Amino acid sequence: MRRNWTTKFIPGIGLLVVATMFCAPAKADEKSAALYKQKCAACHGVDGKGETATGKAMKVKEFASEEVKKMSDEDLSEAISKGKGKMPAYAKSMKPDDIKAMVAYIRSMAK
Ligand code: HEC
Repeated sequence: MRRNWTTKFIPGIGLLVVATMFCAPAKADEKSAALYKQKCAACHGVDGKGETATGKAMKVKEFASEEVKKMSDEDLSEAISKGKGKMPAYAKSMKPDDIKAMVAYIRSMAK
């Protein structure tokens, strides 16, 4: 009885660990995508091109533009946490880790 339980249990744990390892990065990305749609897409556009009415009015730069590409990750996270020009600051509503993940998400849109 007891042996039966462990032989079922151990591989189960192994599977779970492997599954979590594969899911973690995807989850962070999904979270950024959801946050982005909720907080940023109105100005920057779902695709990061800034082709929304608000984006155009505020002259938002395309994330894939040379100007944004040559900015460092620190520049981008600073713009998100402290705001930039007409863009609001997000340091109060986003965790530092979320901001970091958001920078990676922005880079992925610029490819
Ligand atoms: C109210 C409109 C608005 C919202 C909402 C907004 N932004 Fe911006 N964002 C701007 C504007 C305008 C700039 C350009 C500021 C400048 O260059 O003077 C900017 C600049 C940036 C930059 C720096 C790169 C650049 O183009 O200069 C990053 C990175 C950025 N935004 C990310 C985000 C993220 C991530 C969110 C959501 C958490 C967000 N923005 C929400 C308007 C907005």
